[in-house]
Amino acid sequence: MELNFKQELVGCFGFPVAENPTQAMIEPAFEALGLDWRYLTLEVKAEDLERAVEGARAFAFQGFNCTIPHKIEVIKYLDGLGESAELMGAVNCVVLCEGRLIGENTDGKGFVAALSQIEDPKGKTMVLFGAGGAARAISVEMAVAGVKKIVVVNRGEQRGRDLVDLLTGKVQQVLEHDLEVDWVKWEGDYSLPEQTNIVVNATSIGLYPDVAASLDIDMDTLLPSMVVADVIPNPPETCLVRGARQRGCRVIDGLEMLVAQGVIGIQFWTGESPDANIMRSALEKVFAGED
Ligand SMILES: NC(=O)c1ccc[n+]([C@@H]2O[C@H](COP(=O)([O-])OP(=O)(O)OC[C@H]3O[C@@H](n4cnc5c(N)ncnc54)[C@H](OP(=O)(O)O)[C@@H]3O)[C@@H](O)[C@H]2O)c1
Repeated sequence: MELNFKQELVGCFGFPVAENPTQAMIEPAFEALGLDWRYLTLEVKAEDLERAVEGARAFAFQGFNCTIPHKIEVIKYLDGLGESAELMGAVNCVVLCEGRLIGENTDGKGFVAALSQIEDPKGKTMVLFGAGGAARAISVEMAVAGVKKIVVVNRGEQRGRDLVDLLTGKVQQVLEHDLEVDWVKWEGDYSLPEQTNIVVNATSIGLYPDVAASLDIDMDTLLPSMVVADVIPNPPETCLVRGARQRGCRVIDGLEMLVAQGVIGIQFWTGESPDANIMRSALEKVFAGED
């Protein structure tokens, strides 16, 4: 009988990384696909990143995710970038392609995949809270998906303006439509303009353990016609998600985005399409404290 005790390896490099739940959704997906693959959660400090990437090459990893603080720094150790990662200047998913490590960005693609199940982004107006890595990824992919107008609302001025410059410069150059971009400095309660179609929290407000933190917005300006999305995966029901549901909005929680980007990562690594429902319920169990 032919025996094989060698698994294919992928994983996540980050620091801190112990609370990253990705393994909990990826490994059940591999199992359901009949793949003997392992997803390792690996603590990699900033100063060890180069050696960690060399290690991944030596161990023939099929790829790996990158999280804080490696999304930008990792680029200099890779052999090439996919189109989105090149536009955003950030990588969250590295893929082994014909012996080369290629950096991709699945955060925004995952968001668009989750959103597209309930709303076509084409021609829509999106109000985006935040201007960090997640906001960058979401706004670039939403622009590529055809959104007409993006209002960037951010507390810090420099990051907000940098994102506006990216969207009106490098991103506009690859679009076939005119993208309108507005910038609002976030001070006090923000009222959503009536014509808003999509509202996105891409800040870290509401992330465990600050679960009672809520966005400074006038919740009464949320209308049932709006789609409201929150990137926070833990807990999935943030104050924003709860308030939006109470007002009759259609809602996408942070687990939807996490699962959707995980699906794309598995497709990149294995060429196979995993079952998103298995991944979502594995995460729900983890956050309900069942595992
Ligand atoms: N669900 C998913 O698949 C997924 C994927 C990626 C990220 N995420 C989540 O997205 C969140 C943001 O990640 P990131 O990588 O974008 O982080 P980041 O680059 O550090 O950006 C954080 C953003 O949040 C804003 N912010 C933080 N605290 C704030 C406060 N009290 N008031 C107003 N603004 C505040 C920051 O504004 P300033 O510029 O003013 O500092 C900045 O715009 C994290 O919680 C992460 O877990 C989820």
